[in-house]
Amino acid sequence: MRITVFTIFPELIEAACRPSILGAAIESGVLTVRTVDPRDYTEDRHRKVDDVPFGGGAGMVMMAPPIAAALDSALAAEPAGARKPRIVFLTPAGRPFQQDLARAWAREDSLFLVCGRYKGIDDRARREYATDEVSIGDYVLSGGELPALVVIDAVMRLLPGALGDFTSAEEDSIHSGLLEVPQYTRPREFRGERVPEVLLSGHHENIRRWRRRAALEVTYRRRPDLLERAELTSEDRMILEEIRARSGESD
Ligand code: ADE
Repeated sequence: MRITVFTIFPELIEAACRPSILGAAIESGVLTVRTVDPRDYTEDRHRKVDDVPFGGGAGMVMMAPPIAAALDSALAAEPAGARKPRIVFLTPAGRPFQQDLARAWAREDSLFLVCGRYKGIDDRARREYATDEVSIGDYVLSGGELPALVVIDAVMRLLPGALGDFTSAEEDSIHSGLLEVPQYTRPREFRGERVPEVLLSGHHENIRRWRRRAALEVTYRRRPDLLERAELTSEDRMILEEIRARSGESD
């Protein structure tokens, strides 16, 4: 997969892409991440990419022409016959970015991630180019670079071969719609707290059941909204009934 990030801070993206599993995925060729700086597509001496908003107000707005020229150039450089890239604008006004979108985008050949700065991007660029607009949460960041990295990381983990021997994305609880279960490693006892006995038992079926129950329980307590969309088996539903009944007793 190819990911192209449009940003006036390419070094932010490049630095974050070097270490860890993401760096290894890039190194192994599962994924390429490159940056395009709209400043390289300005026509003035000062490489100006922003200006004051029409109508007044604080802050600066990113101008449409440099972003448009950067996108046109990258679109023209896409391999002949390749599927059109998705052009994703990162903005707090976008649709919430969730696992289902990561899953859908992991099947694309090419993703363009467009990072705004300041007060955002001239709306005409958005209307002309954006195929998708996403937000990573209800808070305002100073630019789209961190959200772009969030998207890159979530998508990368789902690419075949990206995680190698590290772990399997299929095993992530959230992948099936539930929260992560508590995990433990050595030592077996820490400040008087012992690791749950079942995890030391070597009994795979009991461990699987314990983990599933723990995932259902933590999701029920913290994010009951997720249970409505989760893929639940009839065994899960029975366990949930028990958890509900027990928490009713303790209320
Ligand atoms: N740009 C600024 N804040 C953002 C957010 N929460 N999500 C996506 N892009 C953003």
